[in-house]
Amino acid sequence: MYILGINAYHGNASAAIIADGRLIAAVEEERFNRVKYAAGFPSAAIRYCLDAAGITLKEVDHVAIPRDPWARIGTKLLYAIRMPSFARERAKVMTQFVGIPEALAQAFDVAPETIRAKFHRIEHHQAHLASTFFVSPFENSALLSADGLGDFASTMWGAGRGNRMEIDGSIAFPHSLGMYYTAVSQYLGFRKFGDEYKVMGLAAYGEPAHLDEFRKIVLSRKGVGFRLGLDYFKHHRTGPEMTWRDADKTPELAAMYSDYMAERLGPARDPTAPVEKLQRDCAASLQARLEEVLFEMLRALHARTKQKAVCLAGGVAFNCVANGKIFDETPFEKIFLQPASGDAGLAIGAAYYVHHQILGEPRSFVMEHAYWGPGYSHEQILAAIRASRLGSEGLEISELHEKVIAREAAKEIAAGKILGWYQGRAEWGPRALGNRSIVADPRRPDMKDILNARIKHREMFRPFAPSILAEATGEYFEKTYPSPFMTQAYSVRPEKRELIPAPTHVDGTGRLQTVTYAANPRYWGLIREFADLTGVPVVLNTSFNDNEPIVCRPEEAIDCFLRTKMDVLVLGDILIRKPALPEEARGTVSREHAR
Ligand SMILES: [Fe+2]
Repeated sequence: MYILGINAYHGNASAAIIADGRLIAAVEEERFNRVKYAAGFPSAAIRYCLDAAGITLKEVDHVAIPRDPWARIGTKLLYAIRMPSFARERAKVMTQFVGIPEALAQAFDVAPETIRAKFHRIEHHQAHLASTFFVSPFENSALLSADGLGDFASTMWGAGRGNRMEIDGSIAFPHSLGMYYTAVSQYLGFRKFGDEYKVMGLAAYGEPAHLDEFRKIVLSRKGVGFRLGLDYFKHHRTGPEMTWRDADKTPELAAMYSDYMAERLGPARDPTAPVEKLQRDCAASLQARLEEVLFEMLRALHARTKQKAVCLAGGVAFNCVANGKIFDETPFEKIFLQPASGDAGLAIGAAYYVHHQILGEPRSFVMEHAYWGPGYSHEQILAAIRASRLGSEGLEISELHEKVIAREAAKEIAAGKILGWYQGRAEWGPRALGNRSIVADPRRPDMKDILNARIKHREMFRPFAPSILAEATGEYFEKTYPSPFMTQAYSVRPEKRELIPAPTHVDGTGRLQTVTYAANPRYWGLIREFADLTGVPVVLNTSFNDNEPIVCRPEEAIDCFLRTKMDVLVLGDILIRKPALPEEARGTVSREHAR
């Protein structure tokens, strides 16, 4: 039985397919249309999922859509009466969602009546909860979803037992931890869709000097979560405005903070102005207050469910800094997040919700790795190399055995070179986890600056992440609970911080990926070889891209390699070296990216 999950007309459009409960494929549309966070209808992602399953659209039994236009319809109508713009937006959403079968038929050029699949509309946060619990290793677990807004709610919690979830409560618009984080990020001058993670990185550079004020921005409500101090916001007056100009454009969000926020904290920062102490301290206060509220909710959830484990989802669950403190701040002993905690993850959530909650099928699947996207054969890689400029530019290209290539690549990293590492199937979710990664030496204090100057061009306050052999986690980090999808930041042991300065953040933490042989033998092998050479079982891992979605096809990897000052590229079994650059062209550390 095939179930296709589709997250459409929403940021991070995506698709996933499961066969008899087994995940076959899951991917974001942005990897194909090359537009970050692409919204719209994910035709290419759906096409890939069907190809991966080896079926046509006509063979799909169920289509699961993580949006229910009828959810909280009373509240929506109340807002629609007050705000005509909101009513117009809702009408558009309704039309789009009702038309999904037609959009699907049109994308695949078939008559709508030939699609025999049954369509299901799954409420947004229940799809979030299903996306984590039903692929977790836990038989029973507490559940929490927290994000900006979906189906007019921001937060939902409950418990999962076997193949069932029970919802215990939710928090509706306009109260939202995701919108709180977005609004303050906008106020701090980070206004692009998806900029919140930059502010999380900035938080470590400040002091939570404004925490008292931030306790008025988000107010605690005993036992039932939180509410926003609405004077600081305006989204409740203007409506939750997210727009994208066309199906292939990154979404844009209207400003959500009010003038009162600037009156209380100081003037809002212009995005082109430098980041000052005010922004650093506000970022630290924002993060500190998020953690207080999140941990209060988790402690209450633990008291209600008496579970040892918790499964998290929603955009707020990308806050790896908060996730890394859950064991210290709450009684939970185990946590699980799948790699696409945000709205892309709704595609698998909706599909698994249908499989278990609606059809009553037993649990049979645990997500043990993140490699559910497209992969390309050796022949396809060779064809991409032949069609590229690689040969004509005099680069050294060699085909090597798997073991040899790991050793050669590790030697390059240890020599300070920057390596593009492209293997197997692409990662599901926004993190590169060793199949579409740029890898570098974590021991070099200047490596962060070098990567920024030569490839990534990011703000200097954003950290790079470490990948560590899972079996060595305790040697380098103060916690050892697995973080296979880079979802938790742990403190690096003080005595090891000087050994791996490049991926250690200013607060002494690292957003680590724990790598097992079972999950990714090739990436594990690369780190193992690096450890044999240097004694350090850690590499710096950042996504294989340059201000674009993570590369997907080998052609995009080659293009990024040639466009940037990357030194070495490994594509499957092929190793490609650029001629050594003169030293003055290599380092080029500049502060121009520091804002
Ligand atoms: Fe969401």
